[in-house]
Amino acid sequence: MWSGAPNGSLVTEIAGLPVGRALDVGCGEGADAIWLAQRGWQVTAIDISSVAISRARVAAKEADVDVDWACADILETPPAPHAFDLLTIQYPALLRTAGERPLRALLNAVAPGGLLLIVGHAHADPEIARQHGFDPDNYVDLADFSRLVVDDFDVETNDIRPRPSPPPGTHHADDAVLRARRRGERRAGLC
Ligand SMILES: C[S@@+](CC[C@H](N)C(=O)[O-])C[C@H]1O[C@@H](n2cnc3c(N)ncnc32)[C@H](O)[C@@H]1O
Repeated sequence: MWSGAPNGSLVTEIAGLPVGRALDVGCGEGADAIWLAQRGWQVTAIDISSVAISRARVAAKEADVDVDWACADILETPPAPHAFDLLTIQYPALLRTAGERPLRALLNAVAPGGLLLIVGHAHADPEIARQHGFDPDNYVDLADFSRLVVDDFDVETNDIRPRPSPPPGTHHADDAVLRARRRGERRAGLC
């Protein structure tokens, strides 16, 4: 259903960084996870939608890359603590009802020295969203994440900027980008 191209802000922020273990949460049809795997990242990609994950598996096979795909609710199944050098969440759609605890467990998946990258739609009109049956008040937003990271992360970017390479036809022209580095020593052995 989607373009098959990786998200522009992910490419802008991550291209050229040292590779390691990456977790893509809400991976959808997997274009970002595949792009990361093609660049040498060891990728785990999770989505609550079995349809999305099955499409992602097909796309990865066509691209001839290995990604560890999982169909799971990240709010119910927290990732292992400190297990990833990169946690990417592109255009999250995580319900607020679960409270802060699963979000904190999710952020805790980032290893010391690792990177968190969350990208959302900026300037989205809440009324238009509601007309499409999506009430933004029900979903965790970047301001929530910004508040949650302060204890353990140094924020490197908290910005709104034009969306690089927007998919054709989208009305989402700007990205809100939160990039933060977990405090602590990066583990040895990464290239
Ligand atoms: C707006 S889409 C973004 C998909 C992809 N990251 C992209 O940029 O194309 C949000 C994705 O999050 C997934 N999702 C929503 N709640 C989730 C949850 N609790 N656990 C895992 N995935 C979830 C949805 O199924 C959907 O694929």
